[in-house]
Amino acid sequence: MNKRPTILLNPGPVTLTQRVRQSLLREDMCHREADFAALMLDIKSRLANVYAEAQNSFEAVTITGSGTCAVEAMIDSFCSRDRTTLVLSNGIYGERIAAMLAAHDRPFRELRADWRDPIELDKAREALLYDPGIRHLVAVHNETTSGRLTDLTPLLDLCAEFEVDLMLDAVSSFGAEWIDFSHPRLMAVASTGNKCLHGIVGIAFVLVRKTQFEKRTSNSDGLYLDLFRYHAAQTDGFSPYTPAVHACFALQEALQELADQGGWRARRQRYRQLSEQIRDKLAALGIATFLDAAVYSSMISSFKLPKGWDYPGIHDALRSRGFVIYAGQGGLYREMFRICTMGDIQDEDIARLLASMEELICGRATR
Ligand SMILES: Cc1ncc(COP(=O)(O)O)c(C=O)c1O
Repeated sequence: MNKRPTILLNPGPVTLTQRVRQSLLREDMCHREADFAALMLDIKSRLANVYAEAQNSFEAVTITGSGTCAVEAMIDSFCSRDRTTLVLSNGIYGERIAAMLAAHDRPFRELRADWRDPIELDKAREALLYDPGIRHLVAVHNETTSGRLTDLTPLLDLCAEFEVDLMLDAVSSFGAEWIDFSHPRLMAVASTGNKCLHGIVGIAFVLVRKTQFEKRTSNSDGLYLDLFRYHAAQTDGFSPYTPAVHACFALQEALQELADQGGWRARRQRYRQLSEQIRDKLAALGIATFLDAAVYSSMISSFKLPKGWDYPGIHDALRSRGFVIYAGQGGLYREMFRICTMGDIQDEDIARLLASMEELICGRATR
């Protein structure tokens, strides 16, 4: 008899640890009271400490919403109204950033790569050479569409060469992949509590280089997404609007758990180990990775649909065995599926998953 809950192998929301789940049962709290302010200040400090290099020069600003909310707040608050933002996209989430810039009526240019490919650094260099109006670059660190992780070093070096700043969507990488917060051209990093940090949906955040709040005023064209308002209110631990209090309980516990487990490096190691185990077994079953395995982030891999299977077939068969996998987005729905190792995934879960895959694939093969 399987006592484990359904295991979420989608890239967030994640299967919660018992510790985080239990934290939701804390006594209710009013967000205008001192105990909530202390909680918020603790979360902000822990977020800025996930990467030691961020500790002194970055400030975490939290916002109630999902990852998209944090990314849009970053774009709305910081992207210039008169100078160009260059977006380097290679998947749904990069393309969404370009859509945000269009929605907020900011001057931008998008260098859109195929979803199978890396971002186009050469074209970015060309754009920077010929357009001195470019002020910011924006990119997605771990493009969840495919699982490809972008190497930030050449991107940040390019920013340094042309004296522009980088804003990063690290929604599916913060807490488990290397982000060079010591690089002076890294300006802001948006993420959420419910992916690599293992909290629940409802609280997202942007780590902003502190000097940004000192030297400029907000570019926001609204209220709710204006990070400058949150920054001002959160100096004392409060929030301009009602925050997701229970998501804050979960995030505080999840951040303590991350630290207890050895921090982001240990989490990356654990994710990698599970992802490699999955890729090795699926390769042995004849299921190829969609991209070269070397380009994947530690926790998301995409796979070609095996011969004779469509996505609903493989999804439903695994769902009935206690696992949720993830479809390809857009046109990739008919080509691939994704498996993500974020969350409370235990060795026995992976053993059961792989046994189920073998049963399905080999059962089919002999039919
Ligand atoms: C890289 C990336 N950016 C942004 C988002 C959007 O986050 P949300 O769905 O939490 O709004 C996601 C969601 O998976 C993501 O993976």
